[in-house]
Amino acid sequence: MKILITGGAGFIGSNFIFYMRKAHPDYELMCVDKLTYAGNLETLEPVMDDEKFTFIKADIADRKAIYETFEKEQPDVVVNFAAESHVDRSIENPAVFLETNVMGTQVLLDASRKYGVKRYHQVSTDEVYGDLPLDRPDLFFTEQTPIHTSSPYSASKASADLLCQAYYRTYGIPITISRCSNNYGPYHFPEKLIPLMIANALADKPLPVYGEGINVRDWLYVEDHCRAIDLILEKGKIGNVYNIGGHNEMRNIDIVKKILEILGKPESLITYVTDRKGHDMRYAIDPTFIYNELGWLSETKFEDGIKKTVQWYLENRSWWENIISGEYQDYYEKMYGNR
Ligand code: NAD
Ligand code: TYD
Repeated sequence: MKILITGGAGFIGSNFIFYMRKAHPDYELMCVDKLTYAGNLETLEPVMDDEKFTFIKADIADRKAIYETFEKEQPDVVVNFAAESHVDRSIENPAVFLETNVMGTQVLLDASRKYGVKRYHQVSTDEVYGDLPLDRPDLFFTEQTPIHTSSPYSASKASADLLCQAYYRTYGIPITISRCSNNYGPYHFPEKLIPLMIANALADKPLPVYGEGINVRDWLYVEDHCRAIDLILEKGKIGNVYNIGGHNEMRNIDIVKKILEILGKPESLITYVTDRKGHDMRYAIDPTFIYNELGWLSETKFEDGIKKTVQWYLENRSWWENIISGEYQDYYEKMYGNR
């Protein structure tokens, strides 16, 4: 089995490579990554010399490079993680989100059609369903919830999902799609809530909480997500969408307080800043379908996952300190300087 993993130098893709290496040591894994600001080859160091692993630096929207890769490598399965993934950046500059998330997906689907694959799996997000109101805790996203996007990021991911479904219906490309909730764990880029708060708390810098901090996200430990994708590849039904999440709903402010508690830092570091434009209120996944079909359940409780995550950031300081010492400084100043 030869699996082409795009975006494998990023957060979830790298965790997926490590997971698959262990779960299926006989599989050949290939990573295609453009190495944008979010991609880090250092992360993949543990597998770089592995003879069953190949790294190819390429843009998924570069048709020539992608066709050449498919022609040469003939993958059986494609798992597309590659994306511009940060909502705040999409609000500042939507164009690159359309280029990578929509056009890049189209190129991968065209290549899958031209060269033939057993499966094309699209890693999507619960953000395609928009948000739920805070006063209706009885409501959850199911696979039947209508697509209703809020940000340029979620609009681009929804467009990619629709393209996958169109290629399935029109050309019979054997697709599956998974829509997961917010992931957390090792190698999470420090522009996202949890690693940003850990890094700032460790530096005794203000923790910028948007609005009142009452927005709710449904947190999924990244390894649980990787296990779900592996199951979908093995047993998922072609054409299906699977929601992946695990009833780990938390308000942002409670997460920030939890991180401060674990690190023994004062709550006086919390600073409320101007809210995100169009900020989604609540995400919450109903995982009944993936449980009934594939027997998947999220195993990591938030309480345990967040402790493991903080521990990882404490033990791997050089990984994230390298990142935040570079161009990240300009990003931080631009996003938070006058907020
Ligand atoms: P990330 O930003 O950490 O990593 C993205 C990776 O894709 C990076 O290695 C980057 O270099 C690469 N990439 C970007 N543009 C590329 C291009 N044009 N060609 C090739 N490679 C390119 O993202 P992540 O958090 O690991 O997310 C992975 C996938 O999961 C994305 O599709 C995202 O939409 C989805 N997702 C993420 C979350 C989450 O909580 N992080 C939740 C739901 C869905
Ligand atoms: P984020 O990690 O960007 O993920 P997403 O927007 O995909 O859910 O943000 C998670 C939540 O945390 C979201 O409600 C926005 C909020 N947030 C802050 O309050 N402060 C921050 O500095 C960041 C990055 C996010």
